[in-house]
Amino acid sequence: MDQSKPTNIDSRKREGGLAYELNTDGLRNIKFGKEIRDKEFLLDPDVTFLNHGSYGTVPSRIIDIQNKLNIERERHPDHWYRVNCKKYVDRSRRAVADFIGADSDNIVYVSNPSVAINTVIRSYPFQPGDALLDTNLSYGTIAKLCKDFTSRIRPDVERVNLQIDFPVLSEDYIIQKYEDILRKHPNIKVAIIDHITSPSAIVMPVKKLVDLCHSNNVLAFIDGAHAIGQIPLNINDLGADVYTTSVHKWAFAPRGCAILWYDRKHASWINPLTTSWNIGDSLDQQFFEQGTVDHIPYVLARHCLDFYQAIGGMSKIIQYTTLLAEEARDLLIKELRLEPLPLAPTLESPNLKLLKLPAVSGYPCTEAGVAALEKALFEGTSVFAVLALIQNHIYLRYSVQVYNDIDDFKTFVTYFKDFLHKSSDSLNV
Ligand SMILES: Cc1ncc(COP(=O)(O)O)c(C=O)c1O
Repeated sequence: MDQSKPTNIDSRKREGGLAYELNTDGLRNIKFGKEIRDKEFLLDPDVTFLNHGSYGTVPSRIIDIQNKLNIERERHPDHWYRVNCKKYVDRSRRAVADFIGADSDNIVYVSNPSVAINTVIRSYPFQPGDALLDTNLSYGTIAKLCKDFTSRIRPDVERVNLQIDFPVLSEDYIIQKYEDILRKHPNIKVAIIDHITSPSAIVMPVKKLVDLCHSNNVLAFIDGAHAIGQIPLNINDLGADVYTTSVHKWAFAPRGCAILWYDRKHASWINPLTTSWNIGDSLDQQFFEQGTVDHIPYVLARHCLDFYQAIGGMSKIIQYTTLLAEEARDLLIKELRLEPLPLAPTLESPNLKLLKLPAVSGYPCTEAGVAALEKALFEGTSVFAVLALIQNHIYLRYSVQVYNDIDDFKTFVTYFKDFLHKSSDSLNV
């Protein structure tokens, strides 16, 4: 063959990415726990992984498709970026939209909720004297953003930080808090409301809070970082103004895959943080092209949802994780004398739980104490969960995913007892 002559490359004609489907063989009846872990995930067999909530982990079948897409892209980068990529992303956008009860035209992909929230807060047409509402339970980086935005970027905008203290024994308690703060601060224009708080893991009564915001002319921005894949979502019914969720947490996508949904009426003022050739074009085009980026995690969202459905979908997954989370809680309370977070059972997240740790000598209940204890407990070890400081107490936060089983928690119990034993020994030296 004459190598200098252009040829038609099959994958160019075929649009390979659209043709790559998830092979679901063997997924329908796979057993959760060790079987799915060994067959479908790349987790190190020696690692006890109780922290899916922070970064998730990606099924190996998804990584196989990711590799194929990577190869397709590297075989003809220009064709990928100029011709195929948008089609692949759009198809994936439609699949995500169907899954969360939204219209795909109102969805754009962003790499994470931090991008989504920064985008909306920095775009919103705040007037001097307006206020932005977050809470003491907002995710730490978002709280920092609110503080920075209202002190450095827009010092003429006030930050109102709602305090929600434990015990949280009913949704009425939360709603009353919001009612009071909105009445007290009629200048609040935007409320950032977590769908599932992190690390405290409360499923907030978002539908009622959206309605409350609207009756006070406040834009309701729902931070649903932990929502997709963990709790049922129907974005159109919810009626929020803006919604973000991370597909890379509970829906198995590779990191760097989140969505930003917006009510059409807000399209005129939302601007991506990074502009490119499509400046001034539709939001769909502008968000798609923000310089040369890796769209493959976005393309893969639909395959991840196929995986999610093929292993049983939300009802089967949540039934398993809820039972396991409760069994684990009983075990940890009995063996380690941990105490549950005082939270109404109806407001608990299915896959994320918190338990108060007993005092550990040498680790005070301060941010520094939590960081030191987390480092001592988990850094460089084969067991991993996270710690959180909540109202001056240190809590263990564990996650349950389909690959966990009760043996993971038994391992944790043995590990933690051993740790306490060694740390009391070292204090006695
Ligand atoms: C409630 C909440 N919001 C926002 C974020 C930020 O997500 P990311 O760091 O992926 O942007 C997280 C991360 O865990 C979160 O839990």
